[in-house]
Amino acid sequence: MPKIALIGAGQIGGTLALLSQTAKLGEVALIDRLDKVAQGKALDLSQAGAVTGSETQILGGANASLDNADVVIVTAGVPRKPGMSRDDLLDTNVAVMREVGAEIAAKAPNAFVICVTNPLDAMVWSLRHASGLPHHKVIGMAGVLDTARYRHFLSLELGVAMRDIHALVLGGHGDTMVALPRYTSVAGIPLTEWVKRGHLSRERLDEIVTRTQNGGAEIVALLGTGSAFYAPAAAATEMAEAYLHNSRRLLPAAAWLDGEYGEKDIYAGVPVIIGARGVERVVELDLDDNERAAFSKSVGAVRELVAECAKRMQTEN
Ligand code: APR
Repeated sequence: MPKIALIGAGQIGGTLALLSQTAKLGEVALIDRLDKVAQGKALDLSQAGAVTGSETQILGGANASLDNADVVIVTAGVPRKPGMSRDDLLDTNVAVMREVGAEIAAKAPNAFVICVTNPLDAMVWSLRHASGLPHHKVIGMAGVLDTARYRHFLSLELGVAMRDIHALVLGGHGDTMVALPRYTSVAGIPLTEWVKRGHLSRERLDEIVTRTQNGGAEIVALLGTGSAFYAPAAAATEMAEAYLHNSRRLLPAAAWLDGEYGEKDIYAGVPVIIGARGVERVVELDLDDNERAAFSKSVGAVRELVAECAKRMQTEN
């Protein structure tokens, strides 16, 4: 059985453990700075298995280890709290990525690593930097989540099942993300056709794109405390499954760019093929002038944050 190590046993980590158990993806090791919380959640989930019929081993805290994990999903860190500046958040989470990256390098150097911690694109860069793992084995979860939000809103608008809506979202995870209506289809019918035939107005589509860009903030405001966790966990699970089952899914994710889309030495959201070798390919698309400009702006915002992370990594050396 493959081993899935979850670093961070908070809201997303706990949900990831449940989804991994339900999908019988592999043994789960739940690891957190709060050792007892991880141990408690693992025990609770193991007992749930008696009811749901899952015998999958779930260990947590002092009983769990990162050793030789096949997949590592990182949600460790803190979410932004009221009164906390972006710099404070970066200070804390870069330090967490540094610590976690070194642990992964020492104990699970062959793992496929999925980063979920925010600010996403800068954190996946920091985690890769700190771990020294190959770029194609370290990826960030954002695009599947952003696309899920977009597909959900479109489904409500069009009255079509979410699973029949295929879509791509590019760029950084945040309000500069770039939804691509030209590359959205409903069971193969381009979304642009729906607009042309008057089933969806240009204005409603623009509203949906804006709501997608603010999808995380909308949930933060409703929850009052903490941020979204069900959909982020479902999205990261889909990526882990693509790797473990070598299913070569084409999914949007924060991947290392080495000249693709005219960008180099940076992580940003693009469509990738995930299989047994990790990121097997970055899939390039023709972008029109507006899309290209929006993508460059988004990557520019990621570069600014990464520069801040790089400074912090250096000063801590
Ligand atoms: N090592 C291990 N665990 C850590 C460390 C560390 N160095 N630092 C913090 N943690 C743990 C916390 O103890 C907590 O249990 O990370 C967990 C984070 O869980 P939550 O606060 O519940 O956050 P969650 O909602 O799961 O989101 C995690 O993903 O989407 C992003 O913005 C979100 O950055 C946040 C992350």
